[in-house]
Amino acid sequence: RRLLGTAGAAGAAGLVLGAGGGALGHAAAAGSPTALSTVGSTSVAFHGEHQAGITDRQQSHGRLAAFDLAPGAGRREAAALMRRWSALAAELMAGRPAGDGDTGVALDAGPCSLTVTFGFGRSFFDRTGLTAARPEQLDPLPVFSADRIDPKRSEGDLWVQIGADDALVAFHALHAIRRAAGQAAGPRWEMGGFNRSPGATGQPMTARNLMGQIDGTGNPKPSEPDFRQRVFVPRDTEHAWMAGGSYAVVRRIRMLLDDWERLAPDAQEKVIGRRKSDGAPLTGGTETTEPDLEAVGPDGSLVIPANAHARISAPEQNGGAAMLRRPFSYHDGPGEDGAPDAGLLFVCWQADPLRGFVPVQRKLDRGDALSAFIRHEASGLFAVPPGAAEGEYVGQRLLE
Ligand code: HEM
Repeated sequence: RRLLGTAGAAGAAGLVLGAGGGALGHAAAAGSPTALSTVGSTSVAFHGEHQAGITDRQQSHGRLAAFDLAPGAGRREAAALMRRWSALAAELMAGRPAGDGDTGVALDAGPCSLTVTFGFGRSFFDRTGLTAARPEQLDPLPVFSADRIDPKRSEGDLWVQIGADDALVAFHALHAIRRAAGQAAGPRWEMGGFNRSPGATGQPMTARNLMGQIDGTGNPKPSEPDFRQRVFVPRDTEHAWMAGGSYAVVRRIRMLLDDWERLAPDAQEKVIGRRKSDGAPLTGGTETTEPDLEAVGPDGSLVIPANAHARISAPEQNGGAAMLRRPFSYHDGPGEDGAPDAGLLFVCWQADPLRGFVPVQRKLDRGDALSAFIRHEASGLFAVPPGAAEGEYVGQRLLE
């Protein structure tokens, strides 16, 4: 159901250079004006079994935001808020305005693959008197030795993930969500990120991150038999309101780019265990070739080093623990130390963080080769309920 479709008139109009403008009226009269691309007209459905923004292609612009319920707001206000937010997200994702008082920022543009995804943090359940309905999967993440977490930019009662292939559409969506929060909730933190624009590469490719690596190759694939089981909460879960939902671990991971860029390219490749040029394992082949973790070189040492990031994080090395990584890159100018404040807004999806992020991060934290070049600076763990059916809002099965 999450297939991308083409929007109606509102979307199509956005693709036409100056459509409706005087001079271009001739072009319209002579036939259909030529669309610049299909990027604007593509839409993702809001209603469905799972929320959007989990298995959908990474968009070129991302905005992550957390909100806290206002003092005095409880379950009733939270339910009304989720009803408002869900109705708004459905309109925006279809490329329609945000109702009366729309700011006009996204006028002319189509839906641009906008997705709006909602999650609940651990504190949400205390605030709403729903502690008994809180799954143990929301227990706080362990503290890892290399963490440098800023609590002000971490966690939150409510989490919103926005992705779109247009910066104005992404801004407009988050701004409308913030306005619709009204008196019920206020912003806690917000982060902006990006990925490559659709069409920037000759053919669809796995994304690159700001270290220049192809990043996402080892992700579980929807075609694999255990994909659903790895990413989505099973139907027979104890907390039925989460059946078909997923858990998002969000980490702002700064890349120590100055240190990283001092490494020679072949040393950089050994840190990951894959080639930079095409993402192939150092044991050869193409991006999709299985790495040969046993292979040794002429000097008798492992070709993919024992501490290579891709070796240590692989499901086979972690009792099958796997997650779907769907990050955005970020760059917010120089940090206080003068080095780039840049890295990954790492978002990973799993049916259970204790069978996904936690065991893998525990192992990486013991000192994989990448650890020296990154720093986790903010953290969040959110329960992302299943998608809403038509006429329903996200989280209704918990809040009603
Ligand atoms: C694989 C980069 C953080 C889990 C990879 C790969 C790269 C990479 C280049 C190889 C290509 C691929 O399979 O995607 C990074 C960078 C990070 C980071 C730059 C931080 C800035 C993390 C974290 C985790 C993680 C925090 C989880 C705790 C994984 C997993 C794989 C992987 C599960 C796939 C392994 C496989 O299936 O072979 N990462 N990573 N990564 N990474 Fe990371």
